[in-house]
Amino acid sequence: MEFFLDTASLDAIRRWQAFGLVQGATTNPAILAKEGGDPLDQLRQVAELVDGPVSAQVTHAEAPAMVRQGEALSQVAPNIVVKVPADLEGLAAARELKEKGVSCNITLTFQPAQAIAFAKVPVAYVSLIIGRVDDFGLSSVEEIANARAMLDKLETPTKLLAASLRNPTQIIAAVNGGADVVTVPPSTWELVHQNPLTLQGEQDFAAAWEELPAEARRAYENLGT
Ligand code: G3P
Repeated sequence: MEFFLDTASLDAIRRWQAFGLVQGATTNPAILAKEGGDPLDQLRQVAELVDGPVSAQVTHAEAPAMVRQGEALSQVAPNIVVKVPADLEGLAAARELKEKGVSCNITLTFQPAQAIAFAKVPVAYVSLIIGRVDDFGLSSVEEIANARAMLDKLETPTKLLAASLRNPTQIIAAVNGGADVVTVPPSTWELVHQNPLTLQGEQDFAAAWEELPAEARRAYENLGT
């Protein structure tokens, strides 16, 4: 199972690379826009920094334009994967891009049945979107295991990518549901690793430790020095 970072921030990529959580990156127009400046230049820098696939999304809505832009995006760097939406224009584009040898990631897939035609192409990745459904109080985490079972039955090489993960529970569901790739926004990793109970526990232990006289603590504290 691989972990990608859902970002175009170079600082965030460096931060989470150091912790071994960047086997690839995923972007979309909103993610690139958030960085400001020239999105094409930003994408080039992300692709240069990341040792693994980097998804870049088309911004057109019709298949011929998606194909033109997707083919050009794929030439920005050798590790670019072209993201196209899970609608019929995207399906037509993905089929043509496949013929041209361009690797695709299908985004905005909310329900596993949307992935069937794309798995038949077969595309490289189908991104199942979780957080955008949960945002409305609807549960989508169980669709990860459904999609996994379905792709296995279809005997397709298409990888299942779990995306739009807003909290630790959704990450666990993606892992346990059998996603091949889990893409996580930096903000969600920050949430996972800044658990207030962990910080409170550290403070509790430190306070209890300070109750011991300094003399009694010394040998223990000086171990390894
Ligand atoms: O890569 C996932 C992304 O395209 C959608 O995420 O956070 O906008 O729901 P989000």
